[in-house]
Amino acid sequence: MHRVLVSAPAKVNLALRVGGPRPDGFHPLDTVFEALDVFDDLEVTAADELTVDITSPGDAVAIADLPLDGSNLAMRAATALLDRRGLTGPGAPGARISITKRIPVAGGMAGGSADAAGALVALNKLWDLGFGADELERIAADLGSDVPFALKGSVAHGQGRGELLEAVQVASVHAWVFLTRSDGLSTPAVFREFDRLNPQAGDPAPTTDLRAALESGSIDDIGAAMVNDLEEPAASLNPELGQMLGQLRADGLHAILSGSGPTIAVLTDPDSLHAIAQQLAARYPHTTVLAACGPAAGAHVREAE
Ligand code: C5P
Repeated sequence: MHRVLVSAPAKVNLALRVGGPRPDGFHPLDTVFEALDVFDDLEVTAADELTVDITSPGDAVAIADLPLDGSNLAMRAATALLDRRGLTGPGAPGARISITKRIPVAGGMAGGSADAAGALVALNKLWDLGFGADELERIAADLGSDVPFALKGSVAHGQGRGELLEAVQVASVHAWVFLTRSDGLSTPAVFREFDRLNPQAGDPAPTTDLRAALESGSIDDIGAAMVNDLEEPAASLNPELGQMLGQLRADGLHAILSGSGPTIAVLTDPDSLHAIAQQLAARYPHTTVLAACGPAAGAHVREAE
């Protein structure tokens, strides 16, 4: 094998309930993830060294601030795979990892996690390492809370810090309009603000209502059950976000903060997607509008030779 091409999806949290911090500093979550048909592509080719490069077609996504060294999540995924097989030092296999980025950066859509998941799948095949799905999921959990979901895709109930997953059946296709912004919010900062605003937080609230609505398939029922406990802290750090969410809801739209923000997600039925995307692009010219549908597949091989 000398070349493998993998696609890995963005995600949105349909519900994100957060509890008080655990002794390890992470927050217990009760969440429902949905994978979206916005993919980062990773092409890996055999090479002597391990390197990563990133391009964005049509400059759709701002990639200038992304690291290209060992701290890049795709590079960390590569190193984690090699470590597990004891393949370190001179003679360890290398690869050129080329990422085509379409998932907004630092937007709460788990683009970095998608790249880590994509690298795990692609390099497991390129280097013929033979890790099974369960082993890859364990390695993924060490790389980040959202990485196991990027492997699995579709819709899943997440617990723990987001890495303990159970598939959820859904009865409809969901169309989304994302309003992404360049003034990113740091995920740890949003969680810290959650702690400041909720000093007494215990266990996260359950996501039972949202999961029941997904089974019914009604977009309005799903929209009514969507909730994100990081919305208040994100709006506290960036008040304009809170104002936008308020306006969108006053217009009768099903709007929610995506993950830890600052992206806002609007759920709609597929027939209205185009019109709502156009309307929001005209209304919020300082944001980038992205239309997407879910559920979509997890990180998967598209070509291998
Ligand atoms: O797991 P991941 O590296 O994506 O998390 C990034 C940061 O987000 C963590 O360092 C932590 O500050 C915060 N986080 C958290 N609780 C979670 C997930 C993430 O506090 N369940």
